[in-house]
Amino acid sequence: MSDHEYIPKSKVGKWFNDRLPLLTLANHLTDYPTPKNLNYWWTFGGILTFCLITQIITGIVLGMHYVAHADLAFQSVEHIMRDVNYGWLIRYVHANGASMFFLAVYIHIFRSLYYGSYKSPREVIWIIGMLIYFLMMATAFMGYVLPWGQMSFWGATVITNLFSAIPLVGESITNWLWGGYSVDNPTLTRFFSLHYLFPFLILGLVVLHIWALHVPGNNNPIGIDIKKPSKDTVPFHPYIVIKDAFALLIFLLIFAFFVFFSPNILGHADNYIEANPLVTPAHIVPEWYLLPFYAILRSVPDKLLGVIAMFAAIFVLVILPWLDTSKVRSTVFRPIYKQFYWFLVADVLILGYVGAMPAEGIYLLIARVATAYYFAHFLLILPFLGFKEKTTPLPLSITEPVLGGSPDMAMARDNSNYKEKL
Ligand code: HEM
Repeated sequence: MSDHEYIPKSKVGKWFNDRLPLLTLANHLTDYPTPKNLNYWWTFGGILTFCLITQIITGIVLGMHYVAHADLAFQSVEHIMRDVNYGWLIRYVHANGASMFFLAVYIHIFRSLYYGSYKSPREVIWIIGMLIYFLMMATAFMGYVLPWGQMSFWGATVITNLFSAIPLVGESITNWLWGGYSVDNPTLTRFFSLHYLFPFLILGLVVLHIWALHVPGNNNPIGIDIKKPSKDTVPFHPYIVIKDAFALLIFLLIFAFFVFFSPNILGHADNYIEANPLVTPAHIVPEWYLLPFYAILRSVPDKLLGVIAMFAAIFVLVILPWLDTSKVRSTVFRPIYKQFYWFLVADVLILGYVGAMPAEGIYLLIARVATAYYFAHFLLILPFLGFKEKTTPLPLSITEPVLGGSPDMAMARDNSNYKEKL
């Protein structure tokens, strides 16, 4: 049934829907024709939506008890952990929730890279995704400052200081960010304010992200265009809803393992020491999900060039739809790109590892090679491969690779006509 034909059954429903067509929208979402060959890598969009809502709800409750003041922040977090009813649970869900959110977003991004979901006509979905990712990093960074532990304070000092590398205006920008001449109370209060605001901006972008997705519809594992609705699609409800719910359940098991059995394993022990501007920790490291960028930053000897390289590492992803010149979307039909895809995965993992190590000796050398490879992948290999690679033949429809040539093909055709015959 198309959107325009939808008429609510009850009189009240019709009255309301004529004035604000929310029920038509809900109907569009439940009926939304989805490719029937989507695999479990497509469940992470739903998982991410769950993560965002969880972070917002737990964050709002934490905000009721947290005190954004340099003299009280650390104690207020201890108060949440010890005195507030289930405060420990809410805080651990929020802190580990950030890690789970990034785990899901990295899977979601690498899924898009593997199946070419960023390519035409889905460039805007991708760019909105990159904006979300950028805001997620900013939000997580500012959130980590709020407990006002040693890593909060020194992490904030290192990262905000990067802006001072900008010629002429760098110093002024850094002082403006700090609200003074060092990381201090004004820095903490503005970080708290923005940390509260950004998730709602992300929420707005997610609505645009999904809206933009509903224009061309989902990509799929073999990356060929499908007609919607057709025998290549199934309605979103109940097929995708139940599959997403099952994947979310598995995800929640892993999430619960961290919260209940290893709540501090992903954090740094130094953040249980109150911030002290007079004592610098031995190693200042960001959270795991920022490590690859941290490695790129430190691999360049010059401070300004390091900052530029770090932002360029994100920017190449933004313009990726135009760097990848191949018309074939899915890696399934691109034997050479498939190998480079896994090299890239390995490269990013290596960058993450060396990002956690001291920037010296062999680690620094590896970081430099891995940084060079990262840029080579996007700026040289991808554009070149698009022209040179010989892809394998594409099937005519998403049904063909599953049933093509088998005796069941006739049966499948009969089944798909079943509804029409009725
Ligand atoms: C809060 C974060 C995010 C949420 C809630 C979210 C949500 C979703 C949802 C629900 C879908 C459809 C289901 C699916 O394909 O898994 C989707 C698709 C997509 N997302 Fe995201 N997303 C987020 C972040 C990102 C990021 C950071 C990127 C990349 C930079 C991205 C790129 C894409 C692309 C390209 C698609 C189309 C996939 C396809 O149909 O093959 N998303 N997203």
